[in-house]
Amino acid sequence: MAKLRVLIASHSELATDHLTRCLADHREFLVTTRLLNNGHADPLHGIGEAPDLLLLHHDTGRPELQYLADHSQRGQVPLVVCGPDDEPDGMRLAMQAGARDYLPGSAPESDLVSCLVRIQEETFRNGTSRTGRLIAVMNGKGGSGASFLATNLAHGLVVDAKKQVTLVDLDLQFGGLCRYLDISPDIGLLQALEAAKQMDDVSVDAYTCEHSSGLRLLAAPSTHITQPDEIPIDELDALLKVLLANNDYLVVDAPNRLNTVTDFFLERADQIILVVQQSLPNIQDAARMLQLLTGELAIPKTRVRVVVNRFTKNSLLELGDIRKALRQDDLITIPNQYKLAAESINSGIPVADISKSALLTKGIRELQAVFEARAEEPAQNFLARALPNILRS
Ligand SMILES: Nc1ncnc2c1ncn2[C@@H]1O[C@H](COP(=O)(O)OP(=O)(O)O)[C@@H](O)[C@H]1O
Ligand SMILES: [Mg+2]
Repeated sequence: MAKLRVLIASHSELATDHLTRCLADHREFLVTTRLLNNGHADPLHGIGEAPDLLLLHHDTGRPELQYLADHSQRGQVPLVVCGPDDEPDGMRLAMQAGARDYLPGSAPESDLVSCLVRIQEETFRNGTSRTGRLIAVMNGKGGSGASFLATNLAHGLVVDAKKQVTLVDLDLQFGGLCRYLDISPDIGLLQALEAAKQMDDVSVDAYTCEHSSGLRLLAAPSTHITQPDEIPIDELDALLKVLLANNDYLVVDAPNRLNTVTDFFLERADQIILVVQQSLPNIQDAARMLQLLTGELAIPKTRVRVVVNRFTKNSLLELGDIRKALRQDDLITIPNQYKLAAESINSGIPVADISKSALLTKGIRELQAVFEARAEEPAQNFLARALPNILRS
């Protein structure tokens, strides 16, 4: 994804330095700064090329925010305001100026970063008219349960949340998701890619198989060997566009061998679920994978969620150890229930269809809820925070 060009504008050198430092570790942002001391109330006055985002540091009594509120118009540069806590006037002006968010001084750095990531995604998402969200599930080490969780998460989103979902198996040679759902496609991903550029919304269904739940599977029946590097990016682009336009969620089971196809989907994923288990080698491999994702692929940390699968309380490796090793504060856990998982895989029946009340099924439902909640999140943040202050004033 393209880098977001962020212009930090402030009358205070201290604030400019602080905001620059907050974003310093994030290579996905291209930061420039502007000290507001030229006597103009318009923070963008005389700027040659407009940035993708204006990050304005506002202080009580400063004129810039009032100027933007008075001159707000459609198509203007997206605006985020950092200002004092409990400043109803500032928040009101930010709203009038069409700001995407108002971040009070006390807000943690991570709020600023996730707000900017959100705007970056909205700005650059392939230029497609996408509606769906892309969730990529992968492991750091084979056998962690990524394919199993991807399948059951996708199935849950269809059955419980009544969403339109396509599950994509990116393993071009050994893809096994059709067995997890007991369906045997004779056409799939490779043919869909070849046809992608001429595809309309209806014809994409011809390349997917429908499970009895309504979940659709796009897999690659392994009739001949295809190297991922042989697949042109513009075909991937075209296919992703059609799939997103046709689904609420696209759940991708991504192999942990990074290649052009895997990278393509990981870079565009709204969320990446990294599935790990409670063993030292597993966590070491997951740490390496996190490094690759956030380093090589420059994927923001906020977009990766770690799921500890087959979690048991009496393991030698505790959650605190995993948190520390992977530098992840929030871990999602899925209980270990070997018999049910094995029965599900051997019979090709999703766990929820075998037992609705099993702990494993409940765990998967909780995982689902995390992603449903995230889908609702963005628009509410600013208003939810600002309104109580504004109403109090
Ligand atoms: N929560 C769980 N409890 C018990 N066994 C599980 C659980 N999740 C996955 N498994 C088992 O782990 C094995 C590997 O799962 P799989 O999804 O193929 O891993 P991966 O795709 O990461 O290589 C499966 O045989 C499955 O039965
Ligand atoms: Mg797998």
